[in-house]
Amino acid sequence: VPQRRSYHEKVIDHYENPRNVGNMNKTDEDVGTGLVGAPACGDVMKLQIRVDGDGKIIDTKFKTFGCGSAIASSSYITEYVKGMTLDEAAQVKNTVIAKELSLPPVKLHCSLLAEDAIKSAIKDYQQKRAKRLAQAQAAS
Ligand code: FES
Ligand code: FES
Repeated sequence: VPQRRSYHEKVIDHYENPRNVGNMNKTDEDVGTGLVGAPACGDVMKLQIRVDGDGKIIDTKFKTFGCGSAIASSSYITEYVKGMTLDEAAQVKNTVIAKELSLPPVKLHCSLLAEDAIKSAIKDYQQKRAKRLAQAQAAS
């Protein structure tokens, strides 16, 4: 079935040529960092976002210690959320990733790791921002 093959190639492509691999400086004030683990298998995913003044994701990076599906899922989501607002990115469901990469049921949790990671990165960014605003307010 040709359609199946093209899905399959997509996973392999993201696995062999992962996009946006790397690190951002965690302490940059426009960076949010999400670090999550999958209890089922022990795989770990770090996902980082850089956010502009309008609350839009302008850059993404990831490092994943895990299986091919986890690496492909993180690569895919870093591409997918680039250009989105934080609100939009927070709505991204793992089922979108799983469908796009055609992950089998036993690999669904790998895409869930990517959903958790982006949510966690957004939360980190928002907490940092709230803290900064509170400090600025206290200082004025
Ligand atoms: Fe083997 Fe995730 S279970 S790498
Ligand atoms: Fe656990 Fe893929 S993240 S097997």
